[in-house]
Amino acid sequence: MCGIVGYIGDKKAYPVLIKGLSRLEYRGYDSAGIALMSNEEDLRVYKRQGKVQDLVDFVDGMDIEGNVGIGHTRWATHGLPNDVNAHPHFSGDGDIVLVHNGIIENYDIIKKELIKRGHVFKSETDTEVLVHLIEDIKNNSTVSLEEAVRIALNEVHGAYAIVALSKHEPNKIIAAKKSSPLVIGMGEDEYYLASDATPIVEYTKNVVYLEDEQIAIIDRNNGLRIISISNKEVSPYVQELEMQLEELEKGGYDHFMLKEIYEQPRAIHDSFRGRLNAQEGWISLGGIRDFEERIAEANRIIIIACGTSWHAGLVGEYYIEDLARIPVEVEYASEFRYRNPIIRPNDVVIAISQSGETADTLAALKMAKEKGATLLGIVNVVGSTISRVTDAGSYTHAGPEIGVASTKAFTTQVTLMAMLAMMLAKKRKTVTEERFNTLLNEMEALPSKIEKLLESNDYIRGIAEIYKDAQNALYLGRGSSFPIALEGALKLKEISYIHAEGYPAAEMKHGPIALIDENMPVFVIATKGENYEKVVSNIQEVKARKGKLVAIVTQGDVTVKNIADHYIEIPDTDEMIVPILATIPWQLISYHIAVMRECNVDQPRNLAKSVTVE
Ligand code: G6P
Repeated sequence: MCGIVGYIGDKKAYPVLIKGLSRLEYRGYDSAGIALMSNEEDLRVYKRQGKVQDLVDFVDGMDIEGNVGIGHTRWATHGLPNDVNAHPHFSGDGDIVLVHNGIIENYDIIKKELIKRGHVFKSETDTEVLVHLIEDIKNNSTVSLEEAVRIALNEVHGAYAIVALSKHEPNKIIAAKKSSPLVIGMGEDEYYLASDATPIVEYTKNVVYLEDEQIAIIDRNNGLRIISISNKEVSPYVQELEMQLEELEKGGYDHFMLKEIYEQPRAIHDSFRGRLNAQEGWISLGGIRDFEERIAEANRIIIIACGTSWHAGLVGEYYIEDLARIPVEVEYASEFRYRNPIIRPNDVVIAISQSGETADTLAALKMAKEKGATLLGIVNVVGSTISRVTDAGSYTHAGPEIGVASTKAFTTQVTLMAMLAMMLAKKRKTVTEERFNTLLNEMEALPSKIEKLLESNDYIRGIAEIYKDAQNALYLGRGSSFPIALEGALKLKEISYIHAEGYPAAEMKHGPIALIDENMPVFVIATKGENYEKVVSNIQEVKARKGKLVAIVTQGDVTVKNIADHYIEIPDTDEMIVPILATIPWQLISYHIAVMRECNVDQPRNLAKSVTVE
């Protein structure tokens, strides 16, 4: 969480920083700030509680000159979101400014020591402690900024991506990272820094991903140098970005979330392009080909993830167990890492993550690695940390997802889970040729079925209108549609702030049924399949208590249509594909309700897209 940017070169830094911060706002948006430098002694900081736009309004008419600068958009961890706690933070003597993404865990001990040495702190942040520590080292040991940063980073515990400036070294930017991401864009005699590549791609496609415990020293005259915090020289590894600028724009949609919902046919197609062929009857995941044997023979697969990605893992559990007959456990990364889990060397651990940077998922992976497991990643962001620490993996290829509430990233994750299950089933001979071919055909047909479903958008908006003032909502599903009930409820909570719960349909009678009355909408997936009749019984129980029922049904259904208050038809498909299709109406319901309630759809309160703190 928190987004950081930096620029040094011949351009005016201000527009680059502001545009970059806007692109990174998904990482946090409770306050924003910048530092600008024109020449020696001229270091200006502007910061403000609120969004990047509040900062822009605030600096209107002020001196925004300078070819060097850093910026920050915050998701508060230590201290309230206010002007004082906003970054950048100054050192006590006003020489150094710093922006930081992460958490300095031992900040309290360091702060107490610095206070004894006469330092006075203005904010409640851990970041201010770090910049004072750097100042203390710089002044007492009379060393350069980079050396002071290096020594300081050897004293701190926790996670950081930092960028620092000193007003006595106006041609230099120092950056470093550990556990939080940082990318350096290499222009012609100019350099960009950012938490991810989105602020950089419009200026250059050549980037260096800084590794943990590395420090970048960027000097306008001498270029980029990288050292480790143990002071070893590292040669920068320059990579080319594949991202396109248009992917980062709203492209005529009112919100990124809606654009991303509509991108799903394309995103899902990209996620299986070149990986399966129904006509020729094959499926192949290139990124994990060398590990196919290993996974197929695993005693157990453990899937770790957070948030929406965890829901994709739950669907994956149904798929893999049903089709490939390998035992699967799905764990919240944050729980898994702290509960001393049993991991055996022939277990395969799969991390699912849109960003590839989620701190808990990363830490859980590292722990699994220490215990000898094989690590796979199902990740969206190319080049992200999780994609680099895993032994192998497959990208979901959803393209950049900007809306904080995950949509296309989720459906592509589920698509990847389906492909993985099919690939393993084929290898283990646990699927009939006929079912395998049906599934291949259904996968290939999925993008056009989603296109068809999206044509119901106006109709779904009409249903949203009816329930927009609900206080609570219940989502139900059975089998592999149960995780979609969880995901539907999460989407509604996240962006419209309506309390919602997802439940296995049959479990409803063990608790949530007590909540049902004539004001309570119950959103249920009641498609044709093995559990159909059971779900019909469950929804009768809802109706018997006067609950309002919105059902997703298979096209042509009669029974549920007659019981439900509202129904949404999805195209007929194999039961295994239903979770992907059934996700889409719930995404649209949440989206429209949030818009009608005038909520900030793309940047819901208190949330951030990339959670790089534990
Ligand atoms: C945050 C986001 C969610 C996301 C979760 C896990 O909570 O708001 O949309 O599902 O993090 O993120 P990851 O990048 O690991 O999928």
